[in-house]
Amino acid sequence: MNQMQRILSARRLSHSIIPQSCFLHRRWFSTSETDASSPPLSSPHQKIQTLEDKASNKSRSTASTTSSLNEQELAKFSAIADTWWHAEGPFKPLHLMNPTRLAFIRSTLCRHFSKDPSSARPFEGLRLIDVGCGGGLLSEPLARMGATVTGIDAVDKNVKIARLHACFYLDFYSLLYVNEMSLQDMDPMTATIEYQCTTAEKLVDDGRTFDAVLALEVIEHVANPAEFCKSLSALTIPNGATVVSTINRSMRAYASAIIAAEYILQWLPKGTHEWSSFLTPEELTMILQRASVDVKEMAGFVYNPITGRWLLSDDISVNFIAYGTKKE
Ligand SMILES: C[S@@+](CC[C@H](N)C(=O)[O-])C[C@H]1O[C@@H](n2cnc3c(N)ncnc32)[C@H](O)[C@@H]1O
Repeated sequence: MNQMQRILSARRLSHSIIPQSCFLHRRWFSTSETDASSPPLSSPHQKIQTLEDKASNKSRSTASTTSSLNEQELAKFSAIADTWWHAEGPFKPLHLMNPTRLAFIRSTLCRHFSKDPSSARPFEGLRLIDVGCGGGLLSEPLARMGATVTGIDAVDKNVKIARLHACFYLDFYSLLYVNEMSLQDMDPMTATIEYQCTTAEKLVDDGRTFDAVLALEVIEHVANPAEFCKSLSALTIPNGATVVSTINRSMRAYASAIIAAEYILQWLPKGTHEWSSFLTPEELTMILQRASVDVKEMAGFVYNPITGRWLLSDDISVNFIAYGTKKE
C-alpha cells in the first residue's frame, strides 16, 4: 500500500468511527478537516487496541484500578511547579489559552445544563472537577463562574501552589512573600475550591461523581489514555458532561507544539511533550465513546502570532478540545 492509499483508507476508517451526532465547533464534523499529515503508521483502531492491551496487561499485574500515573511526566511538572502563576514562564501558553478554552467550556456547559451564558455566575449549582488541575489556572475561573470546584493533581507541589493561590489570589512574585499575607487577604470566591493530590481512578474508587468532568492538556501525559477516559467517564454522572483538550498527533503539531514551542520560541522546557503520546481527534472520540461518552462538539485552538492570542477555530490539526455527554 503506498502512502496515499494508507491515508485514504485511514480517512474511510475515520468516517466509520465518528458518531453522526458529533459536530465541530457548531458545524458537522468532517474528518476531511483533520490534518492529512497525521501519520499513516497505524490506524486509530490499532493505536487504541495497543493502548487498551497495555492497560489490561498492567491491570492484571497490579491493583484493581489501572494507574494513570506516568512518573516521568509527573517529574517534569514537579520540577517547574513553582512557576504555575508566572505568566511569562513555562506555562505561558496555558495562561494565553485560558480565555479561549473558558469560552468553549462556558458555551458548551451552559447549553448542556440550560444555564444562562450571559450571567456572571452561570455555573452556580454545578459540581465540576478539574482533573490534572496543575496550579489551578482553570479551577479558579470556574469557581468564579459559580461552580463548586474540585481540583485534583498527581503532583503534590502543584496542589500546594494551587491551594495557596486560590486562597490569596497572589501573582507569581507575591507567592514568594506569602508569609506576609493575612486571613483578610483571602479570596472568598476561590478559597472554597477543594484541592486534592490524587488521581481520577482513586476518586472513582471512593465513589465520587460530578456534573461535569474536565481534563485539559492532561491526557497526553497519562500512562493509559483509554483507562484514563474510563475513569473520567465513571466520575461523570449519567447525562453529565465531559470536556477533554489535547494536542493532535499530526505533523503540524510536531512542527508547532514541539519544534516551535520548545526549541525555537522556548515557551516550554525541551522534552515537555512526546509526539507519540498525542491522540488524533478520531482516537480521542473513539476512546471516549468506548468509555460511554458521546463526543458532541469539537473545536480547535489557533494561535495568532500578531495579536499573541488564541482563537477558537474549526482547525483541529494541532490543539483541540472535545465536549461529550455521558450516556444514561
Ligand atoms: C499540562 S498540565 C495541565 C494543567 C491544567 N489542566 C491546565 O490546563 O491548566 C498537566 C497536569 O496534569 C497532571 N497530571 C499528569 N498525569 C496525571 C494523572 N494521571 N492524574 C492527575 N494529574 C495528572 C500534571 O501533574 C500536570 O499538572
